[in-house]
Amino acid sequence: MSGRSSAARRAAAPACAPHRGPAAEAFGPGKVILLGEHAVVYGHPALAVPLSLGVTARGTAAERCALGDLPDLTAPQRRMLDAAFEAVASATGRPPLRIALSSTLPVSMGLGSSAALAVAVSRLLLGASGSTPTPAKVLALALRMEEAFHGTPSGVDHTVSAHSTPLLYRRPVSAEPGRPGRVRQVRIGARATLVLALVGPRRGTQETVAALRRRAARWPTRYGRLFKEMGRLAVEGTEALEAGDLESLGDAMNVNHGLLAAAGVSSPALDTAVDTLRRAGALGAKLTGAGGDGGAVVALFRKLPASGTLEKSGLAVLTSELEPTP
Ligand code: PMV
Repeated sequence: MSGRSSAARRAAAPACAPHRGPAAEAFGPGKVILLGEHAVVYGHPALAVPLSLGVTARGTAAERCALGDLPDLTAPQRRMLDAAFEAVASATGRPPLRIALSSTLPVSMGLGSSAALAVAVSRLLLGASGSTPTPAKVLALALRMEEAFHGTPSGVDHTVSAHSTPLLYRRPVSAEPGRPGRVRQVRIGARATLVLALVGPRRGTQETVAALRRRAARWPTRYGRLFKEMGRLAVEGTEALEAGDLESLGDAMNVNHGLLAAAGVSSPALDTAVDTLRRAGALGAKLTGAGGDGGAVVALFRKLPASGTLEKSGLAVLTSELEPTP
């Protein structure tokens, strides 16, 4: 295992089987933001790692390039997905494939499910059109899909998914669509376990980001200070992760949660889950992703708590390993 989360280990396998025969397959990992969400929208850095959970796109030879049935989507969601798919299909010359999607990621929980979908589909279509799906090419295509889903995302989700490695990310300075952000690959200095608690449904990222933007526009100095401090925590937490100082990383996560709550993007249910995970021995716990009225909490553990501890808390949890870079 090389300096990556277990997610990256899975993604280190060929990202897309070339489309030689009747079927091809590609994977896009989800992500978890350890530090810096929301501030990243305003140009500050964020620290995020890929997950082993994600979206798989499977293509079978067909008359034309099309996305298969997705029974769980509402009509507006399906229209949005079709528009996003169309952007990538036309950019890759519409290889004749029918694409089926399957996901191990919970949807709309702040774990990057739409970016994972965009990366899986982009990898598959690039491979099928005879192009090597390098992170840069996958990124450019996946961002087009992400923009159809999220308007103007910072890009952190799809960048971590496309690189499939822990990153300190900053959004591009220019607002020109399709420009990649600035990334620094992050080494993992010590083994740790991430516990992801799924707290509950939430409104869309765009809505939570827009409400915070209104507050920040009204009181720019106050919110500017909060965002700047969140960005500093992301840099300090990255240094701590690389040095293997999990206590310092956990503390940065705790402080970051306090700032996110101060910025108005936490909720009683998120705060309770954070508290429960800290009581269960987490070195740090915070909401992850957009938050708002629900979503997920990420907690950092040196070792997974004894079996039963988390189950007793009543939280629905997933785990992901951080394994040291050799
Ligand atoms: O959509 P989510 O919950 O993964 O949130 C993404 C992180 C934000 O910083 C809130 C938004 C963004 O575009 O970076």
